[in-house]
Amino acid sequence: MSPSVVKLAPSILAADFTRLGEQVREAEQAGADRIHIDVMDGHFVPNISMGPVVVKALRPITSLPLEVHLMIEHPIRFLDAFAEAGADSMLVHVENAVNLHRTVQHIKVLGKKAGVVLNPATSPVAAAEILPDVDLVLVMTVNPGFGGQQFITGMIDKIRRVRRLIDQTKRDIELEVDGGIDAATTTRVVEAGARVLVAGSAIFGSPDGVVAAMNRLRTALLPVFPS
Ligand code: DX5
Ligand code: ZN
Repeated sequence: MSPSVVKLAPSILAADFTRLGEQVREAEQAGADRIHIDVMDGHFVPNISMGPVVVKALRPITSLPLEVHLMIEHPIRFLDAFAEAGADSMLVHVENAVNLHRTVQHIKVLGKKAGVVLNPATSPVAAAEILPDVDLVLVMTVNPGFGGQQFITGMIDKIRRVRRLIDQTKRDIELEVDGGIDAATTTRVVEAGARVLVAGSAIFGSPDGVVAAMNRLRTALLPVFPS
């Protein structure tokens, strides 16, 4: 295995919004695998961020998949709008999707990839029954709502447990992590089984720019995959 099995998903929450298009293009040129868009409603999480209008604005300027992380109540109400705006995948939290199976099926009916998200205090078991229907499981490694928070170390063991559950299905389900991912934490989450890394501050908040920041993340992974 080589470091290229690990995908990087820059989170635009930490981008400079006065030049969002430019920042996304920079990330694409630097080898990003997808763009992570954090949607917050001020109810499910204590912050408000972006909606379908941002997805629509970014759709024509990048060929990268747009991944929408829905930190909102009743996500099912907004799936059509995000699909129309150009989202490629939609991730819903298991904690608030009352009809999780229906929500996931609706994402698939729209022809999009479906993912489920686990908050730090949510057991992997909460995702077990829906695993046959999803393309991705996202383990939150901070409490959702804000960028720039500290990685919660206890999540390493949870990532391992989610990895085992996924492997048992024999299905090709991606294991993604989100929150506090930087050059130091990246190796630990990948060793535990994560293969898609969301990073906001470590990419867009880096003083030496997006390209240097993404190279730093990839370089940090080299010892995990000795050639
Ligand atoms: C937090 C969001 C994250 C956030 C990560 O609620 O889901 O995607 O942008 O930011 P960093 O990488 O700065 O922890
Ligand atoms: Zn996110």
